[in-house]
Amino acid sequence: MTVRILPSILSADFARLGEDVARMEAGGADWLHVDVMDGQFVPNLTFGAKVIEAVRSVTKLPLDVHMMVWQPERYFDDFAAAGASRMLIHAEATPHLHRHVNRIKELGCAAGVAINPATPVEVLVDIVQDLDTVLVMTVNPGFGGQQFIAHTVEKICRTRELLTRTKSRAVLEVDGGINRETIVTCYRAGADTFVAGHAVFAAADPRAEIGELRRRAGEVVT
Ligand code: DX5
Ligand code: ZN
Repeated sequence: MTVRILPSILSADFARLGEDVARMEAGGADWLHVDVMDGQFVPNLTFGAKVIEAVRSVTKLPLDVHMMVWQPERYFDDFAAAGASRMLIHAEATPHLHRHVNRIKELGCAAGVAINPATPVEVLVDIVQDLDTVLVMTVNPGFGGQQFIAHTVEKICRTRELLTRTKSRAVLEVDGGINRETIVTCYRAGADTFVAGHAVFAAADPRAEIGELRRRAGEVVT
């Protein structure tokens, strides 16, 4: 299983965003995770297309844009034009997952659906065949640096079963509270793609931390 480590720029120093992005790229990040929050779907407010565009201009890494917003379809065109590689929308944020996932793909981006800790895996059953990513939230979305919610591990297992059963090749991503310990648990449960904000940005040596997370998830760094 290919392991991917995705630093979340939510934990970056926004006054030095370009430098932090460069540090993550040099540090071996696979993709960058970009948290868009609207202050409505989640309590916190972050940024939109301008920042995605700015990040796009300083890195070649794929940008994994996590849209914690109501009516995400309002932003698809702008985010695609700004350089998003993947757009992940929340199952809780729209009744029209099928329409929106297909629109994201029409725009040339990969598409994913995220589910909150209390949302059952079953909401994915009739959309999974269209997805490039399934994101199982391991905290309640809204803030970096929160504690991993243990009961989500069982959901990761059930999501992996669903992907296997449907022969889906979608990425199984986890986001929230991922550190040296929880990454092992999530990997064993079937996750392959790991967002890490606090763990990477608070580390004295982010490059070493990315390497250590990858090693612990079962892949040796070369
Ligand atoms: C939380 C965001 C996460 C956040 C993760 O709502 O979706 O991507 O940046 O941060 P850590 O790894 O610090 O929990
Ligand atoms: Zn996120």
